[in-house]
Amino acid sequence: MAEKLKIGALISGGGTNLQAIIDACEAGEINAEMAFVGSDHPGVKGLDRAAKHGIPSFVMEYGPILKNPEDYPAAPGLDLDDVISKQHLFYGEGALERAELYCAVRAVAEAQLLKEMDKFEYDVLVLAGFMRIFTPYIIDKINKGHDLPRIMNIHPALLPAFPGVDGYGDTFAYGCKVGGCTVHFVDYGEDSGPIIGQKAYTIDPGDTEADIRKKGLELEWRLYPECIGLYADGRLSLAKRGRRTVVEVSR
Ligand code: GRF
Repeated sequence: MAEKLKIGALISGGGTNLQAIIDACEAGEINAEMAFVGSDHPGVKGLDRAAKHGIPSFVMEYGPILKNPEDYPAAPGLDLDDVISKQHLFYGEGALERAELYCAVRAVAEAQLLKEMDKFEYDVLVLAGFMRIFTPYIIDKINKGHDLPRIMNIHPALLPAFPGVDGYGDTFAYGCKVGGCTVHFVDYGEDSGPIIGQKAYTIDPGDTEADIRKKGLELEWRLYPECIGLYADGRLSLAKRGRRTVVEVSR
């Protein structure tokens, strides 16, 4: 069997997706193992889950860095013009100025995060309820020299519908009759990267937002390990379809 895929995971909270991934690794359902867990908040339950399974972890708080970026080392190799020209996070009037402010400060935090992650060897980075948006600075650093993107995210909606922080809330508020979750590669926009896998659930009459969340999360716990398994088995590739880059899954 090929060598196990080494997974780095970033979390911000409870880590139920992290748990599903750990369990799939330990059960041998996917040819992968955990390399580290990083959190941008101390004391979250996901860190306890890592400890319980003997997985090394670290905390890298964004908060203090975003407040006083000048107190931290500059981001090595940062080409701010390049980062701003690539990002798809800001549009419209004043986009350039807003992007510049955002990316310059985030890159300082991302450099610290990279420093922590670089202490470990990892093949793929999975964002599992990590509530931060990456700039092209860190994305390029992680993907450089690799054919496939190396950062995956799980989103609680059927993308491209409802990107952003509250996929289940948005699905409910819109009155959708079907909802779902999506695993995608991370690109330079918000929840906009090539889709690796999706699962859908039916929204029944009378379902509350809490019902939707429960149905969705249960699917997330199956979807994320499945998608990581496809990556581990070398079944994913990128292809051009019109102007979009899409993921193709081989049989
Ligand atoms: C999930 O719904 C995920 O899709 C979203 O944040 C939530 C994280 O849950 N990005 P958990 O921390 O994995 O329990």
